[in-house]
Amino acid sequence: MPAADIAYVIFNHEDLDLARRFLADFGLVISYETEDEIGLRAASAHSHCYIARKAPGRSGLAAIGMRADSLEMLRQVATFPEASAVEPIERPGGGWRVRLNSPDGLPFELVHGCEAQAALPLREALRINHGNAKVRHGEWQRPAFAPAPVLRLGHVAILTPNFRRNADWLQSRLGMAPSDLLFDGQPENLLGGFFHCRGPARWTDHHTIALFPGDEARVHHTSFEVLDMDAQFLGNKWLLKRGWRPFWGVGRHILGSQVFDYWYDPDGNLVEHFTDSDLVQPGSAPGLHPVDDDALAQWGPAMPVSTFIAPWRKPD
Ligand SMILES: [Fe+2]
Repeated sequence: MPAADIAYVIFNHEDLDLARRFLADFGLVISYETEDEIGLRAASAHSHCYIARKAPGRSGLAAIGMRADSLEMLRQVATFPEASAVEPIERPGGGWRVRLNSPDGLPFELVHGCEAQAALPLREALRINHGNAKVRHGEWQRPAFAPAPVLRLGHVAILTPNFRRNADWLQSRLGMAPSDLLFDGQPENLLGGFFHCRGPARWTDHHTIALFPGDEARVHHTSFEVLDMDAQFLGNKWLLKRGWRPFWGVGRHILGSQVFDYWYDPDGNLVEHFTDSDLVQPGSAPGLHPVDDDALAQWGPAMPVSTFIAPWRKPD
């Protein structure tokens, strides 16, 4: 019963007006708004991928929605002891969901039937004159200085003190499979990993859920794909100019190969822009890698693993 992809995240925010301003500068677009909830979308033809809720005193992750390709999958998952019954989703776009918590108590939802919205217009992705392959003749590169064009929600990374239990759960409950696994010291001492969806796609993202080692169970970051490399750097410049707080970037990861750029939202949650991510074939054999300070990036600002996964604190 594999999940096909990630569908949305729901975050509670202290101040919905501040969250709205940040998310617009980040590149998401409002698709509906009520007094205490905003649904935001990306440019690709999907439903809302980020739902911001007003919840003073309770800011943070409220749900990770994973998409199933049939209502029958929801009915089957609803038979697991930790799962709710199949329920209608009471927000624009509708659909059906089953709620179920991970072994660490993080709230997941398996969803089906959310109404897709038509794709939004986008500029063309840049055509690059590489040193040995020139494709642009007499045309200038002038992408607009604007929020990064975000195409879709890509993945969520989770910190956990209990890797094996959560890895087993992702595989048994959501049908996911590891692309790369992380160990400390000896290969049998697994403490993290990157998991892809084994839905019907022939090629899929290197990871849709990542598990990182942590002293506490919580979401580490939520990541959105942007159009191209210039969107990544111009998006960085835009967020800086608007006064938001950077965490780490721009750089290129090793596992997954994404060009990354991490930002704090106003509540202190990390959100990431990425582009040029690896694709894997569902079910392909995982790689095995030691965790050390050289494991995070091929290039970019220095970032020790301990800082990357440090306990959460709201930025000043
Ligand atoms: Fe990421």
